[in-house]
Parts: sequence; structure tokens; C-alpha cells
Amino acid sequence: MRTLVTGAQGCIGSWVVRRLIEQGHEVVTFDVNESLARLEMISSPEIVAKADRRVGRIEETETVKKLIRDEEITHIVHLAAVLMPFCQKNPVQGGLINVIGTLNIFEAARDLGKQTRIVYASSSAVWGPTDEYGEGPLTEDLPLKPATHYGVFKAANEGNARNFYSSDGISSIGLRPWTVFGPGRDAGLTADPTLAMRAVARKQPFQMRLSGHMDLQYVRDVADIFIQCLFSETPGAHVFNLRGEVVEMEQLRRMLDEIRPGAAQLISVSGPEVPVAYRMSDEALVKTVGEIPRTPLREAIVETIEKFEQLG
Ligand SMILES: NC(=O)c1ccc[n+]([C@@H]2O[C@H](COP(=O)([O-])OP(=O)(O)OC[C@H]3O[C@@H](n4cnc5c(N)ncnc54)[C@H](O)[C@@H]3O)[C@@H](O)[C@H]2O)c1
Repeated sequence: MRTLVTGAQGCIGSWVVRRLIEQGHEVVTFDVNESLARLEMISSPEIVAKADRRVGRIEETETVKKLIRDEEITHIVHLAAVLMPFCQKNPVQGGLINVIGTLNIFEAARDLGKQTRIVYASSSAVWGPTDEYGEGPLTEDLPLKPATHYGVFKAANEGNARNFYSSDGISSIGLRPWTVFGPGRDAGLTADPTLAMRAVARKQPFQMRLSGHMDLQYVRDVADIFIQCLFSETPGAHVFNLRGEVVEMEQLRRMLDEIRPGAAQLISVSGPEVPVAYRMSDEALVKTVGEIPRTPLREAIVETIEKFEQLG
């Protein structure tokens, strides 16, 4: 058994690599970025040393196919992607990495001619803005109305995954995180809750560039859910929402102040809401893979701030 993690130097990827290695799995990492800085930040040197590292571009078909074939990969966690706002400004580059890159993973698995488990990151960005939907929780059977190129790319990946199952029998699970937060989150539009926690730890001012509601999901839980899905052996092409705790950004600012008094003076909130509906149900996920980790939001924020305090 050998697991490939793409986008392994990223926020979720570093945690997936750490947790897989802690559980005794063999891990091959793949990323365009050579740095292991995030993994080094969250793991011991022993864990870092066990990551078998490969550097390359996910959109290069032959590179990806050769890697998966030569390394005798049996399981894939596919996370490599570019985020918002990059995709909105660079849709061609975004499409190559996010859509062609994902096709490369599935086609490489197909070419192996045996069952390769794939779990990939979709996104809550496949939903449109909140006012496109009713008051009820968003379930996976509702129509997707993505309002960004990034969301459209993720919706395309979900459709392609369904086709790889119906045409070639490749089973997969796509997971739709909303805002992942915790140590290692520093990139993308929704990194601000984590950057605010880091600023509180460093006693520095920080202006959050987004307001309104976000569904905050702790990165360690998210990584563990990816791994739970990877080994679930559920046949079919599934897509599931992930759900954490929905908070309004002013409410987050008050929570930070309760946890570290004085934080409210450091953190300010302004800017637009993220154009993505946030009332997601995760019932279908739990029904399929069983109960999932759910660190309470306050506990996860405390852990995150403490980690940033240790790091200085
Ligand atoms: N973080 C979130 O809140 C969130 C929410 C929804 C979906 N997602 C999805 O989860 C996945 C991981 O997100 P993350 O927060 O860890 O992002 P991240 O930016 O921290 O990590 C993405 C990784 O992909 C790598 N990458 C980018 N272009 C590449 C290329 N051409 N070839 C190979 N590697 C490349 C980057 O170097 C980076 O290490 C992504 O697919 C993202 O769309 C994340």
C-alpha cells in the first residue's frame, strides 16, 4: 500500500502527510513547491524524514502518469490546486492546474488498470451565493450554481470523477471544505481567520479582508476525514459537503478576545462576504463513512493560537 498526496506542501496536504505517516503508511508527496516548511512547522523531524518527496507540476500529464505507475501507487489524496483569488485573475492557468491536473490523476489511475482509491478536494465554492438557495441546509442533491471560475473548475472535477466511475469503474470521493483553518493555513482568500489567530498570538494588528459568515473547519479534522474516506472502500463516485461551525466574522473577533483578552483591539473586520452559501449539511458523509472528528471550534482556535505562540 503506497499513498500519493498531491499538493502535499499545502495546508491540508501537510496535515494529511503527517497523519498518514503517524499511522504508519508509506507516503509519496508531490508538489510544485520544493519547500516542506508547513510540514516542518507541524511535525517532528522524524515524520518529515519519512515523506518520500517528488517535485513537479500536476498539469504535466506524463509526469503524473509516470509517477503513479513507477511508484506503484495504490491510494491517492489529490489536493494540488490554485485557489481564490488566483483562479479568478488567471482562469487559463487555474483551469490547467485545477481541471487538467485532476484529469491527469484520474487518467493515470485508469491506465493502471486496477483499483486505485482516489479522494480529492472539491470545494464549497461549487455552491453559489447564499441568496441562490432557501433557508434549509445544503444537501448534495441541490443544483450547483458556482459564482467563480474556481467553483466552476471544482464542479467540473466532480462531473469528471462521475464519468471515470461510469466509464472506467474508478471509485472516488470528492470532499467540499468551506474555510479550513489552523497551523499551516496562510494562502488563499479564506486564510484570514487563521491569519487573525496568528496576529493575536504575535500581538500584532490584523485587518480581516472579508466579513459575513464562514463555516470554519479545523485542518487536523479535515485531514483525518480525507484519510477516513481514503480507506473507506466505498464504491462509486461520491461527493460530500464538509461541515464545521458557522461563525460570523465579528463573532470570531469576539471569540478571539475571550480567548486572549485584548485581541479585539488588534483585529478588525471589513470587506465583502465570500459569495458561497454556507449552510452545508454533512449527513450524507457521516451516513457513508461513519462518525467523523469534530474538534469544538473554541478548542481548535485555542490549539491554533498556542501553536503560533510557540512558533513566535
Ligand atoms: N483551505 C480551504 O479552506 C479549502 C476550501 C475548499 C477547498 N480547498 C481545496 O483543498 C485543496 C488544498 O487546499 P489548501 O488549503 O491546502 O491549499 P494550499 O494552497 O495550501 O495547497 C495547495 C498546494 O498545491 C500546490 N500546487 C499548486 N499548483 C501546483 C501545480 N501546478 N502542481 C503541483 N502542485 C501545485 C501548491 O504548491 C500547494 O502546496 C485544494 O484543492 C483546494 O482547492 C481548500
